[in-house]
Amino acid sequence: MCGIFGYIGDKICLPYIVSGLEKLEYRGYDSAGVAYIDNEGNLEIRKVVGKVQNLKEILDLSVNSFIGIGHTRWATHGGITQQNAHPHVDCQGNIAVVHNGIIENYKELKDYLIKRGHIFRSQTDTEVVPHLLEDLIDNEGLELEYAITNIFSKLNGSFALLIMDKRRPNVLYALRKQSPLIVGFGNKENFVASDIPALGEYTDKFYYLKDNQMAKVTRDEIRIWDSNVKKYIEINPIKIPQERIRAEKNGYPHFMLKEIFEQPLVVRRIITELERDPSGSFEIKDIINCDIPWHKVEKIFIVACGTSYHAGYYTKFSWEEELPYWVEVELASQVHHRNLRIPDNTVFVTISQSGETADVISTLRKVKEKGYKVLSLVNNPQSTVARESDYFINLRAGIEIGVAATKTFMAELVYLDLLKEYIKYKLFNEKVNLEKWVLLPTYLENYLTNIKDLVFDIAKKYYNKKNFLYLARGRNFPLALEGALKLKEISYVHAEGIPAGEMKHGPIALLDPETPVFGIVYQDDTYTKMLNNLEEAKARKAPIIALGNENDRKLENLVDDLIPIPSIDPFYYPYLGTVVLQLFAYYVADLLGREIDQPRNLAKSVTVE
Ligand code: AGP
Repeated sequence: MCGIFGYIGDKICLPYIVSGLEKLEYRGYDSAGVAYIDNEGNLEIRKVVGKVQNLKEILDLSVNSFIGIGHTRWATHGGITQQNAHPHVDCQGNIAVVHNGIIENYKELKDYLIKRGHIFRSQTDTEVVPHLLEDLIDNEGLELEYAITNIFSKLNGSFALLIMDKRRPNVLYALRKQSPLIVGFGNKENFVASDIPALGEYTDKFYYLKDNQMAKVTRDEIRIWDSNVKKYIEINPIKIPQERIRAEKNGYPHFMLKEIFEQPLVVRRIITELERDPSGSFEIKDIINCDIPWHKVEKIFIVACGTSYHAGYYTKFSWEEELPYWVEVELASQVHHRNLRIPDNTVFVTISQSGETADVISTLRKVKEKGYKVLSLVNNPQSTVARESDYFINLRAGIEIGVAATKTFMAELVYLDLLKEYIKYKLFNEKVNLEKWVLLPTYLENYLTNIKDLVFDIAKKYYNKKNFLYLARGRNFPLALEGALKLKEISYVHAEGIPAGEMKHGPIALLDPETPVFGIVYQDDTYTKMLNNLEEAKARKAPIIALGNENDRKLENLVDDLIPIPSIDPFYYPYLGTVVLQLFAYYVADLLGREIDQPRNLAKSVTVE
């Protein structure tokens, strides 16, 4: 969480920094701030509560300054106030710092620094950094760069830091430990940012800092210092074409809506990227060298958070049905608190669109340490999860800007299902009929076009309700969880996904005419019991919306609003159902006038535990 951006070069820096921060706002938007060194050598700080737009309103973007750093905050330590907004400075106002992450030993450091006479102005963990540097420079006589490299060993926790000292106005320092940080190489200008969309407009050449590395960034060069070997090292920057980086709304009012409608394209891309073999098998390119002995595997342990967890949970059902494994799914944040006793022949599958979710990373490290193999699905091949896993599959969904995950969820569902087919082929040499997947993008495209108006009308009917219950059974239940999560995160309406069989064990008490029930009622093994559960809800006068098969007269007569799924192969139901749940949440949020792409209190990637 938190976005940081730095510029040094031959152009006026503030327009770059502000535009970079706007592109990083999905990482947090509680407050925003910049620090820059002006032509007279003054270190100037401007910060505001709220969004980058508020910052823009108080800034003179044309000020003569060619070096600066900026921050958009998701508050962890210290409330949402101007004082706690970054950048933070030392006592004398020489050193400015922006930070993403959590400095876990900040209390001890703060006490120590206060005893040595430092005066703190905020409640943040970050502020210890400029004071610590000041102390190392002024009291211990260290040179700036030496002091900076020194702090790797003094700070516990996670950090991406950008540091600037007005006494050295020609250099920026960027440090990474467990929080993402990327440097971008320009012509007579260089950049640093938390994520790549902030840089795509200016360069296509990047280096992803690794843990315990520091970048020394000047106008003309970027050098990388590695604290493991304690020296500058050679690196190979990577080239990423601009069209893969830049995200535009393309006429849609929100990124989320654009991303919902982009899903057919994402699926098409995934299918095209498979290496198909005329004999009926296929390879997933990214794991072509994967040497997991699938025949020996006993257990698959899927770990993820939020929407990615729902994709894993959905997958559990079909994997257990079709593969000879015991499949367990767990929230990454819960794994910490478990004493895992798992068979040796367990493969861990982690799922994370960002590849930077702190809980996923810590689980990944924990299980790797114990010697388990980890296969990950991520939407960013440069991310920590991708780099630290034994194998990873790139979700190929393209950059997702909306805080609510949509197209990456679709990509996760598709890849997890393909992975199941791939393992089946490895185990049983079963031919794979990919035709079903080949048709999926077209079905999705047509369905989105046909269903959107109906979903909008239903959203209009219910958007002012305060509570929703999403009911489903069996394999459809994870989709109910996902539908409820989508609704609550962008509309702030309370919504719960409940296994329909659990209703009578308590939640049915919630039902009344003001509490709509959203049922997922396909004609599958859950059908009859779902109908009973909806009857029970109806008897309590709850309005009922149902996602079900077209031509299902029984269901149509029972519910208030039916959102029909076409009479096609049930293989397509979860994918088509998913877009309905996404659209419903989107329209409700839009009708309520919510900030859909940047819902309150949330950030796109959760980089702290
Ligand atoms: C999804 O809409 C959420 N914003 C959130 O639950 C997200 O899925 C979760 O934070 C996991 O993120 P990841 O996939 O990047 O690991």
